[in-house]
Amino acid sequence: MEPILELESARLILRQWRDTDLPEFARMCADPQVMRYFPAKLSHLESAAMIGRIRGHFAEYGFGLWALQRKDSGEFIGLTGLQHVSFEADFTPAVEIGWRLAREHWGLGYASEAAWTALRCGFDRVQRDEIVAFTTEANMPSQKVMQAIGMHYDPQADFARPKVAADDPLRHHVLYRITRAQWLDTLHG
Ligand SMILES: CC(C)(COP(=O)(O)OP(=O)(O)OC[C@H]1O[C@@H](n2cnc3c(N)ncnc32)[C@H](O)[C@@H]1OP(=O)(O)O)[C@@H](O)C(=O)NCCC(=O)NCCS
Repeated sequence: MEPILELESARLILRQWRDTDLPEFARMCADPQVMRYFPAKLSHLESAAMIGRIRGHFAEYGFGLWALQRKDSGEFIGLTGLQHVSFEADFTPAVEIGWRLAREHWGLGYASEAAWTALRCGFDRVQRDEIVAFTTEANMPSQKVMQAIGMHYDPQADFARPKVAADDPLRHHVLYRITRAQWLDTLHG
């Protein structure tokens, strides 16, 4: 498969990462609100390492978590994309869709818009038959994005996230799924 370096939606460019994205990415990953459903905020070094891993995923598979850029202002605002699930669970191997935006850009529909674009790419170009998404049970903003793009909660598939302590409320995760057939239905229904 040709690497999918860039995608476009009405208001966004989903592009490759630039070194100049790091300061803003590190700022958002150190924001307690952005990271409230994650086990920990990220240090500057950890954010840089995450960008490195994202670039590695693109190099290996030709798709990944794209950097999001607003067309109107040119600003880098976060990430959205597709990646192979990095741990073992009942639903793996699988490709997941995910998102993380800086707080200033919430509530404007950018996450859902980018997610639609990434999902289409997952079916049209990456040729997956199913895409999953998961988050901690309390993360309703993220689950709203999953629902907005036509994903369905699978109540049989709740799971405990590996490496999160047994007494941590962030351990319990919910799984959403969408198959190619369901996605086609959302397009034509
Ligand atoms: C999850 C996250 C990306 C959701 O961002 P978001 O901005 O709420 O999501 P959307 O882009 O779908 O925006 C929807 C909101 O924008 C509003 N909106 C405004 N203009 C809109 C438009 N043109 N189109 C769609 N929605 C629009 C909607 O009404 C909705 O508001 P509501 O939540 O008050 O109902 C964001 O909360 C985030 O980055 N969280 C931290 C990281 C995280 O938890 N990531 C997921 C880990 S699994």
